[in-house]
Amino acid sequence: MGVLAGKEIVLGVTGGIAAYKACEIIRELKGEGANVTTILTASGSQFLTPLTLQTLSKNPVVMDLWNLISESEIGHISLAQRAHLLLIAPATGNILGKIRGGIADDMLSTVVMATAAPVVLAPAMNTQMYASAAVRENVAVLRSRGFLFVEPDEGELACGTVGPGRLAAVGKIVEMVRIVLAEKILKGKKVVVSAGPTAESIDPVRFLSNRASGKMGFALARAARRFGADVTLVSGPTALADPYFMKTVHVRTAEEMQTAVDRESADADAIVMCAAVADFRAARISPTKIKKDGGGWNLELSPTVDILDRLGRDKGRRVLVGFAAETGDIEQNAIGKMRKKNLDAIVANDVSRADIGFESDDNEVRIFFSDGEVRELPLATKEGIAVGIWLALHGKLFAR
Ligand code: PMT
Repeated sequence: MGVLAGKEIVLGVTGGIAAYKACEIIRELKGEGANVTTILTASGSQFLTPLTLQTLSKNPVVMDLWNLISESEIGHISLAQRAHLLLIAPATGNILGKIRGGIADDMLSTVVMATAAPVVLAPAMNTQMYASAAVRENVAVLRSRGFLFVEPDEGELACGTVGPGRLAAVGKIVEMVRIVLAEKILKGKKVVVSAGPTAESIDPVRFLSNRASGKMGFALARAARRFGADVTLVSGPTALADPYFMKTVHVRTAEEMQTAVDRESADADAIVMCAAVADFRAARISPTKIKKDGGGWNLELSPTVDILDRLGRDKGRRVLVGFAAETGDIEQNAIGKMRKKNLDAIVANDVSRADIGFESDDNEVRIFFSDGEVRELPLATKEGIAVGIWLALHGKLFAR
């Protein structure tokens, strides 16, 4: 079950052209099981009808503080109290100023004042307005009071200017909601996760690589971030977009991955090596394209550095977790790798199956711990498996 299942989210929609994106936000939140109640301000209703929001949220839309029927059914105090989170997207310069100044003259500003739930603000406005001294100061003060912000993106705005001010991507706003609402079992932990394949050049046009898509490692990084960890993702070449709200370091070769993992993990609490690091590279990289001459080609390979093996030799207090990509004798091979590399745990998956392992959206894993305990995580999405892995690691390794 996802982080948002069963959560009560109050979505405030204020008056800006980005108001239409509230529809997509509602769909995303509801798609993950949240109950969404929308408060539409008077200026918001110039851009969006309550009927649209009501149809998508399947809840009455609250607009008027002085409407006796809505006030008796879903009044400002009851909304403020039942919300697990209040999200305002888009948040205009006007609502930021009102919240900062303690003005409660409509339903939304009153609910903000009355709630003890976390409030996430996703501003969207003209670049000049966003850069104005009043808005900068309001944002700074609201941050210092504990309000959370999803900063606007840069780009061409509806008014024609180019710069910061465009409402952040819906995916980014929803990810912030997940982060705020998830349990914080990894709070205070610094975690480095590796993902994807490495690519080892042979010549300017050819390289050695493997089928890793990065999906499993990216899911682990996102789950750790939601659980409150400070996450650095070290990724080989993939087609995936960088996850939000974490540092992503892009590398290509095993050697580059080793340098990045070493640098980023010096003060880490845990390192999870999910990357499928190439075991071999070309003994020599040709500076020019190697021509075919009608015959065969014997390519000489050299071993790459084993990143985990090296980390295991100088482990310190860090929790070290490997993955084992196996096609047979899974238990024996995985445990052998865990012992040889001095790991605390290894996550084994069967990469001979088409429905799990490389590239697929799902996985099924067994976690072997160095004390002999085994945990099985049955078939689930990689997002679900990632959550299961962190819960298992937390219970066994971080709680000690
Ligand atoms: O990216 P996806 O498409 O989602 O696929 C996910 C996955 C199948 C790649 C992932 O679940 C997985 O199994 N990753 C480990 C792949 C692998 O390289 O396994 P291995 O058994 O060869 O290596 C054992 C461990 O040593 C791994 O943690 C690996 O990162 C590490 N290693 C390996 C070689 C090397 N030179 N340095 C290393 O650190």
